[in-house]
Amino acid sequence: MSPLREIHILTLFPDLFEGFLRESILGKAIADGRVAIRLLDFRTFAVDKHHSADDVPYGGGSGMVLLPGPAVAALESLPPGTRKVLLTPQGARFDHAAAVRLAGEPRLALFCGRYEGFDERIRSHVDEEVSLGDFVLQGGEVAAMAIVEALVRLLPGVLHNADSPREESFAGGLLEYPQYTRPREFRGVEVPEILLSGHHEEIRRWRRREALRRTLARRPELLAAASLTEEDRELLGEVGEASGRAAERPGGGTGADSASGPRTKDQEPGTAPARVHVVLVHHPIKSRIGGLITTSVTNLDIHDIARASRTYGVHAYHLVTPIALQQELVRGVASHWLEGESGERVPARAQALSLVRVAESFFAVTESVRAEAGVEPLVVMTTAAAGGRPTVGYGALRERLRTETRPVLLVFGTGWGLADELLDRADVLLDPIEASSDYNHLSVRVAVGVCLDRLFGTR
Ligand SMILES: C[S@@+](CC[C@H](N)C(=O)[O-])C[C@H]1O[C@@H](n2cnc3c(N)ncnc32)[C@H](O)[C@@H]1O
Repeated sequence: MSPLREIHILTLFPDLFEGFLRESILGKAIADGRVAIRLLDFRTFAVDKHHSADDVPYGGGSGMVLLPGPAVAALESLPPGTRKVLLTPQGARFDHAAAVRLAGEPRLALFCGRYEGFDERIRSHVDEEVSLGDFVLQGGEVAAMAIVEALVRLLPGVLHNADSPREESFAGGLLEYPQYTRPREFRGVEVPEILLSGHHEEIRRWRRREALRRTLARRPELLAAASLTEEDRELLGEVGEASGRAAERPGGGTGADSASGPRTKDQEPGTAPARVHVVLVHHPIKSRIGGLITTSVTNLDIHDIARASRTYGVHAYHLVTPIALQQELVRGVASHWLEGESGERVPARAQALSLVRVAESFFAVTESVRAEAGVEPLVVMTTAAAGGRPTVGYGALRERLRTETRPVLLVFGTGWGLADELLDRADVLLDPIEASSDYNHLSVRVAVGVCLDRLFGTR
């Protein structure tokens, strides 16, 4: 497919784009004729004397809604073969893959809603719906600008360095490595020595390793989906070893990028011997009345399980939720305690929360752990009611873990427990925790504490 040549922006506010289209790399790309951008004002397609392009919604309610007449007339005025994209928070999330795909369309139209949105019947006149993220903008114009920038920089000849778009975050499935410029030392922080060495091959390896480290720490689900080379696996091994050493230093391993300690068999007693990961699953979960649900993450679970994990030397604590807003919530809580004043004031909490990782599925966790370790993890699941499935006692598992060389996932459910489709994937199902009462409703935080202590406690 030939690359993008024309972008049509359909809007009520064409003037908003004036400075944006004139400046910097985009302005130059347009001036050089690499891409043409045309602004279409809905009002010029209105048929009444007031040039109305919006009206009040039927059924009442606040705000105005774009009229279908002028909007569809604007869409129908586009050249044949134009891919029509409606900008709406209800659309598919825009990302690097979507940018690459849309940059391969010769002609593109971006339809900007405004006010309360647009008449529903406009939807059947576009090819796809795209959202910039889970938030609501005043109108589609800023979303259109973001998309135009993301697409145009991918077009041949637009950026001076042809490698830039290939090296940047997401392009190779990873986040980009850290960048430094002058001065060599800034407020006591030095540029990494290797970048000053002039050894191109070593710099390349360092950058790749840092990209892997950063992706592992911040977006492990990307790592799970990335195609990794033999060298990548080797570098990931180095990342694991280095972060283990950092965790053993006082105050080490608390940064967002420095995953806390891979523990080895020689470590202090009372901590996890194999590289253990705690996984807390919010989907798929059994519901009280049958069927599957997604439960909500809670602040208590984030904190308390992170603290228990740190206490027993767990390598990482993964929260699994497919809901993007909940993933953001977890990242927000963790970064609040990792960065800035809170991180400095309560370093012990930062150490615990540095273990937190977020994944959209249990599969993403297993893939990221497998990518990091280069072997399949041993999957140990937990349940409050085994329902006839064979289970293993704590003593037996404790013994087995002394010599286990694979990473171990200790998986806990929420709600009414892990869905059967997950339990089917367990290598080991642990005995339910039982006491001499008829009450069987431990919170997951307590269950994690009991399990960790039975498996890794010193007594
Ligand atoms: C205030 S919003 C209307 C939101 C609409 N009432 C809803 O709940 O879906 C006005 C317009 O801004 C644009 N917009 C708002 N948030 C957006 C997002 N996250 N991504 C893309 N476009 C967005 C859309 O074109 C939308 O029609």
